[in-house]
Parts: sequence; C-alpha cells; structure tokens
Amino acid sequence: MFDHLEMAPADAILGLTEAFKRDKTPNKINLGVGVYKDANGETPVLESVRLAEAHVLKAEATKSYLPIAGDPEYGALTRALLLGESNAIDAEDRALTAHTPGGTGALRVAADFIKRCFGEVAVWMSDPTWANHPAIFDAAGLETKAYPYYDADARGVAFDAMRDALQEAPRGDVVLLHACCHNPSGVDLDAEQWRALSAIIKERGLLPLVDFAYQGFGDGLSEDAEGLRILCDTVADLLICSSYSKNFGLYRDRCGALTVVGASHDAAARAMSHIEKVVRANYSNPPALGGAIVKEILTDAKLRATWEREVSDMRTRINGMRVLFVDSLKNAGVKQDFSFIKRQRGMFSFSGLTREQVVELRTKYAIYIVGSGRINVAGMTEANMETLCTALAKVLQ
Ligand code: LMR
Repeated sequence: MFDHLEMAPADAILGLTEAFKRDKTPNKINLGVGVYKDANGETPVLESVRLAEAHVLKAEATKSYLPIAGDPEYGALTRALLLGESNAIDAEDRALTAHTPGGTGALRVAADFIKRCFGEVAVWMSDPTWANHPAIFDAAGLETKAYPYYDADARGVAFDAMRDALQEAPRGDVVLLHACCHNPSGVDLDAEQWRALSAIIKERGLLPLVDFAYQGFGDGLSEDAEGLRILCDTVADLLICSSYSKNFGLYRDRCGALTVVGASHDAAARAMSHIEKVVRANYSNPPALGGAIVKEILTDAKLRATWEREVSDMRTRINGMRVLFVDSLKNAGVKQDFSFIKRQRGMFSFSGLTREQVVELRTKYAIYIVGSGRINVAGMTEANMETLCTALAKVLQ
C-alpha cells in the first residue's frame, strides 16, 4: 500500500535537529530549533518546575480524564498571565480558555474552529512567519495569505506596507499576529503601531488571532503582553494561542492554551462550544501533567517568585549573548554591521544570511541554523561563540 509514496520533505525546523543528531563532527553547534539552552549548552528542567512536579505527583489522586477544555482554573490563571491580574475582559466574563497540547495544538484547534464556524475566510500571516504557521492553517483547509512585515534594509517592521495590506483584507478574514519576540525576525511592533493596527482590525471587521509563544523572553512578562492588551482594549473578539513550552521549559509536556474573547459571556460560550467539538474530534481532552505543574507554580507564591526569576535569568542570558555575538563577530574580522542583532528581541535573530551561506555553515562547519537565516540566539554560549564567529567570518568573506 505504501510502496508508491514519496518521502515527505524533512521539517524545516525539527528536521534540522534530527540532522544535527546524526552529525558526528566534534564541536557542532545547533542554533536551529527554538529551545532555550543555559550557559553549559543544556536545556534544563526549571527549578520551579522540578519542585512543582514533585508536589503534583505526590498529591495526584487520579489519572481520570480532564474536561474537554481542561481545568477551568488553569484557564483563569492563563488569562491572568496574558491579560493582567485584574483585566477588564475577565471582570466582564467575556473570555474562556481551553487547555491545549502546546501552542501548536492551540493553533490547530483555532484553525479547525475557524474553518468550522467561518468557512471560506483567509488567514493573513506576516512575511516572514514561523515555518509551521502556513502548514497548520493549510491542514485545516484554510486559505493563507501574507502581509508584509519585515523590512530587510531597515532591519525593522515594514509597518506602512503591513497597514496598507491589511486595509485591503476582506471583512471577516483572520489576521495572525505575533504578540512579542516575532518568530523568525526578532522584530516587534511598538505600542503606537499596535494601537494603529488595532484600529484597522476593528474598522475592517477582521478577526485577530494572536500567537503568544514567548511571553517573558522579550522585555518582561507583562511588558511582552502590552501589544495584546492594547488590542484587547480596542476589539471585542479575538483568539489567543499561548504556549508554556518556552517560559516554563515544558516543551515535551505539550502545554498551551486557546483563549477565546467575545463581545459577551454568551458569545464566548457559543464559540467555546464549537472549540470543544474540535478538541473532542482531535485528541478528546488535554494531557494533564504540564497544566498541573503550571497551576501549582502560578498559585504558590514561593514557586511563582522562583519561576519569575528563572524567566528573567533566561531573558538576561539571551540578551547577553546578543551583545557578545555582535562584539565577537567584530573581533573575528567581520566587516558588516550586525549591531541590529542587539535590538532584536526573543530567542531569534534574522541574520540576513543567504540560503547558500546557511548550507555552507552546515556542510563545512557543522553549524545548524534555519534556511531563512534565522539564528536561535538562545543556543549560543561563551564556549561556542568563538567557533561560531570564526565560521561566520569565513562564510561572510
Ligand atoms: C521554533 O520555531 O523553533 C519553535 O517554535 C519550535 C518549533 O516547533 O518549531
């Protein structure tokens, strides 16, 4: 039955990790997948997670199913983190949250919900965007369209072009936005641009879908939510796909959320009833452990303080690597100006390297970065910096 099938191409990001594992070169460097590494190049279990998991396992009384949308308290805690402790939306009871298997799970449920309830609308996504975004919405049978986002010459947001494109988007279409730490560019909208964008979304009758995977990795847990909160002040309806993979380091526990905000509680409840149908037909109900760990941390003052410090430490280390990277490139004799990397936020930097240069880095120097030129700064360490910058200097010559 399967003999005639062609091999599907390797995944643009996760496929790199597999190729990296197969590579026998000593001192190989993986700056592909967006996974945080500490100064020793390890992806540790956070201390707050280790402690919370021990509590959770000790207290666990059953392995019975969670509700289709997960534990409502997990949903409320998630919204408090996203929207602020005493936010107007929760005060008005206009939002509901489904616990999903990771941020990717949230996006796929959102995509199926959009297809089920809104039919033939298109989903507009930034050019460039996370390599998996188009695949997720394609898989749900939705049309995808691109709006301009990254200005390669200015190394910033092409805001005028973005605004012009979205002003032409048909009423009812969906606009996918990155809340912070834009993946792959590391370049975010400022508050004024969020305000202008929110006004366009409202005026054009578009449905915003905010992907929030890196809260805490840009400027801080609440600072990174500023754009989302501006949007919430302006529009009545939106979808938020959030992830605890990065900020709790729960990558393999697959822990995220889909939050629906409506004009009223009734509207949000109607939307959630369809989201539950989608979940039931996909994976039935969410895996419990990651959510229980998040809940334990967010409700225990001591664990929460430990976790907030750990998020801050991860952010500080990444920003330190940005500075060291730019200085080390200069010391390695690179003439081009890479100072823009210090201004970018989150795990990623758009280096401007061409596909040929990316291939050369991999084949000659065993340095793995994504084909678009996206570098995972969180994979840099003091120990691998010289090898990395020496190789880059040669490739850039
Ligand atoms: C990434 O962009 O590298 C991460 O979000 C991991 C993934 O699933 O692609």
